[in-house]
Amino acid sequence: MPLSWFRAEQFRCLASVELELDPVANVFVGPNASGKTSLLEAAFFLGRGRSFRCRQRDTLIRHGQDAFVLAGRSSGGVSPVMLGVRARRNGTEWQAGGAPAAGVAALAEQFPAQVIDPEIHKLLEEGPGRRRRFLDWGVFHVEPAFLSTWRRYHLALRQRNAALKQDRGDSDLAAWEQELAASGEELVRQREAYLERLRDPLEAIGKALLGSPITLVHSRGWDEKRPLLEALEADRARDRRYRATQAGPHRGDAAVEVGGRAAKDRVSRGQQKLVAAGLMLAQLQIQEQERPGRSALLLDDPAAELDSENLGLLMAAVRTVPAQIWVTSLRGEIPGLPGQSRVFHVEQGAIRPG
Ligand SMILES: Nc1ncnc2c1ncn2[C@@H]1O[C@H](COP(=O)(O)OP(=O)(O)O)[C@@H](O)[C@H]1O
Ligand SMILES: [Mg+2]
Repeated sequence: MPLSWFRAEQFRCLASVELELDPVANVFVGPNASGKTSLLEAAFFLGRGRSFRCRQRDTLIRHGQDAFVLAGRSSGGVSPVMLGVRARRNGTEWQAGGAPAAGVAALAEQFPAQVIDPEIHKLLEEGPGRRRRFLDWGVFHVEPAFLSTWRRYHLALRQRNAALKQDRGDSDLAAWEQELAASGEELVRQREAYLERLRDPLEAIGKALLGSPITLVHSRGWDEKRPLLEALEADRARDRRYRATQAGPHRGDAAVEVGGRAAKDRVSRGQQKLVAAGLMLAQLQIQEQERPGRSALLLDDPAAELDSENLGLLMAAVRTVPAQIWVTSLRGEIPGLPGQSRVFHVEQGAIRPG
């Protein structure tokens, strides 16, 4: 199972909580402002190295403290692996399997956490940044070369952009374009292979949730008719004016369609939430194929976000995904949860088993 044990110290309003978790489903019940979302945020941080609610890491440290600490025991693999994070105002330390880790990637492999929260419809409504992050998170779990390709690409991109800002000549730009084009084309191949894997699960989940298949329509981030190297060379004058590289997978997107039409124009807000949740669930299915028994699905107050019909559809789809569920609720009645689930009561930043 994913996490069998979890601890959070000085994280938002949670002074010190320790949980023995159920492998299938865990329900956190408590009044408003008791710390339910904070707990999901803490779990998410352990697996993802960031919050899903805000960008500022420092606001996660409990008022009056100078660090938060998170720890978990991942029991998905052959033997349990301890994961840990200590975040201070001036830096974060990561641990996986008893050894220091360079970053969150080692923890993310052990505890791939996915969240369905009240902001989830932004995946459809907002610009391509969120959708690229969604896509790349999926690729990271299925393609071992992804991280090094992504780093190579972004290093070359930063260097070419710096040369553009300094108004350097063609030969200085050309010095980075080979590397940028090679890693950029590779990144696109990895994204396309992942989208191919996502296609069937997404179609099935779309039919279950909305009666129509969900599809992702990829755009690479530059003119589809020519290689990236050619586009970069042709764009030099324009890029100098913009002082930034305009062509490449950092401008890519995956447009969401339902039944062959743009989801963001077609469906209601409630349905948008279902579509976005469908994307998360399809991604979890693939994660679980790749690394069985490790994924967690964090559901923040789904009963407040969806009407009873849509909630029923969502929970039925959630049951088809083999991930550990962490779900919060004001009252505790969540129709359609798996029979086996552990209930916890959250009150003023403290959590006790129910
Ligand atoms: N850094 C922090 N230190 C202490 N308390 C915080 C911090 N950040 C947020 N809070 C408080 O934590 C409380 C719990 O918030 P939240 O987890 O959103 O509750 P719930 O999801 O149960 O409604 C809020 O009252 C908020 O003011
Ligand atoms: Mg909340």
